[in-house]
Amino acid sequence: MSILKVFLACAVTFSLAQATSYLYLDNGVKLDVKKGDISIYNGSPVEKISKKGKKVLVKISGYIGKDGKTLYATPNRELILASVKKANMIKKDSKNSKKGSVQVLISKDNLTDDPEEAWEENSDLFYDKCTRCHRARVVKKHTMKEWDVLFNSMKQFAKPTKKEAKLILRFLHAYAKDGILTQKD
Ligand code: HEC
Repeated sequence: MSILKVFLACAVTFSLAQATSYLYLDNGVKLDVKKGDISIYNGSPVEKISKKGKKVLVKISGYIGKDGKTLYATPNRELILASVKKANMIKKDSKNSKKGSVQVLISKDNLTDDPEEAWEENSDLFYDKCTRCHRARVVKKHTMKEWDVLFNSMKQFAKPTKKEAKLILRFLHAYAKDGILTQKD
């Protein structure tokens, strides 16, 4: 009996650890919510807090930018997850913490548990625009900072639109050597 309890406890812990979902915007880099007071960005990992009919309350956590109004995925502040109109809309983890979060109510259509689905538009663009002259470069070979430089020099060749450039660079950052979605091997 007690072994079963331990097993159940582990199963619950496991399922909570798997609770990350991803913002799925089928067209574009960001979605404005709360009358434009909060913008959330394509592919960002979120935590589901509660469900209200077809809406889901999600929490987006990250490192607070210098302006106090932006949340980034990593300490080097490369990949934007969310931005707010006023700094006090970001709840700091603790008084002097560099990290904080925002909670927003979004349609469940804008959520997926599959990161590949969330990042599909970005990766399609990368393979479309960046394999015309050479084979697809291995994204996880370079850090986010290296990709800033490499992408900048390749942009003139690939000629993406502004929106496409943002989506491709987000993809390179997310799957970079120090990216948040990179599989370690
Ligand atoms: C018009 C042709 C062209 C397109 C389109 C293009 N590249 Fe390149 N790329 C080159 C050439 C030429 C080189 C240098 C020779 C080589 O390494 O193959 C290069 C080299 C690279 C390198 C290696 C650079 C280094 O210093 O190690 C990376 C990484 C790269 N490209 C990424 C990209 C990405 C990302 C895109 C899409 C945004 C892209 N390329 C689109 C032509 C292109």
